[in-house]
Amino acid sequence: MIIEPRMRGFICLTAHPTGAEQNVKNQIEYIKSKGAIAGAKKVLVIGASTGFGLASRITSAFGSDAATIGVFFEKPPVEGKTASPGWYNSAAFEKEAHKAGLYAKSINGDAFSNEIKRETLDLIKADLGQVDLIIYSLASPVRTNPNTGVTHRSVLKPIGQTFTNKTVDFHTGNVSEVSIAPANEEDIENTVAVMGGEDWAMWIDALKSENLLAEGATTIAYSYIGPELTEAVYRKGTIGRAKDHLEATAFTITDNLKSIGGKAYVSVNKALVTQASSAIPVIPLYISLLYKIMKEEGIHEGCIEQIQRLFQDRLYNGSEVPVDEKGRIRIDDWEMREDVQAKVAALWKEATTETLPSIGDLAGYRNDFLNLFGFEVPGVDYKADANEVVNIESIK
Ligand code: NAI
Ligand code: NA
Repeated sequence: MIIEPRMRGFICLTAHPTGAEQNVKNQIEYIKSKGAIAGAKKVLVIGASTGFGLASRITSAFGSDAATIGVFFEKPPVEGKTASPGWYNSAAFEKEAHKAGLYAKSINGDAFSNEIKRETLDLIKADLGQVDLIIYSLASPVRTNPNTGVTHRSVLKPIGQTFTNKTVDFHTGNVSEVSIAPANEEDIENTVAVMGGEDWAMWIDALKSENLLAEGATTIAYSYIGPELTEAVYRKGTIGRAKDHLEATAFTITDNLKSIGGKAYVSVNKALVTQASSAIPVIPLYISLLYKIMKEEGIHEGCIEQIQRLFQDRLYNGSEVPVDEKGRIRIDDWEMREDVQAKVAALWKEATTETLPSIGDLAGYRNDFLNLFGFEVPGVDYKADANEVVNIESIK
């Protein structure tokens, strides 16, 4: 069938398999072009189908010839209805990995659950024996704690006081003021339960208790800080509390891994257009101004460029892993450059519906958003009939 983007609010209901495949191929080509990375050989990626997790899987496989197991939660296609984009990404990834002679298997289901953890542990046991790198890259609005059975929903709210600032509806380009009422204690606890480090620690505990972690195993999760402009709704808001918890969890996991000489890291990444970040108020306006400046300066990166740099220059640079005063790896260094932030802050004041198309990179934002779903990818013939039913080779 001919597949076109169908929008509802912040999400796109359709995805294009050929476009997704082209995106994955482009990321693979990028990694190959940057040369080999002396990285891990047996890698588990939790949240492997889109965004930073997909980029991590591609970088491991095509940068270090790693065997990868990917866990994700995606919608398979049915006749006449497309899959979610991460499904098509993963189908394309496996196809390319297998072509290159690399082990790649995937598990589709709720990574927060005991069942999916069990399935993953069994697969590692049967096929890989142990893993030496675990990437934790989940972004989800909801988590059911398998021990309590309680379902927690995260919220994106400020803490302490109402936050009022500009935001943009990136579909229409309309810049308006948004006010977000402060969170209560329960909101904070729920958001920490979903996006904090509890589940990450559960994964590592489970892997360790069954001796599935290789000597010196490393695990890494992704965080964000961002500028003053977004602080009230991001780093000092509910999601920021969850990121504080995630970052603190790196230390408890490191303690837990001492006996095998392992270590947990958090990497602070750059603000990028993903399904997760598009849903956060104020962030899309910030990103569209940031992209404009970073592209002008020649320092713009997408997920794959970010993760390539994380692996090559930080994690596997042949000597010590550089970290900040809180022990975090920083690949948001170019975003946070003083000159970049000063320019974004100045543009922020001028941003209106009328000015944004010229002072910001709204077109780039929209393009990246559509790309997430496999649309507007150069070289893809969208007029051609696409087969929406695409299998992931390892999933029966
Ligand atoms: P994303 O939405 O592109 O990827 C989320 C992944 O999690 C997908 O593979 C999805 O299938 C999987 N997932 C979600 N719920 C799941 C569940 N219950 N079970 C199994 N898999 C599930 O998100 P993105 O942006 O790549 O985020 C990954 C991490 O990076 C998050 O911790 C996020 O906070 C962080 N980050 C994101 C930034 C951004 O600007 N997008 C910036 C810095 C950090
Ligand atoms: Na991800």
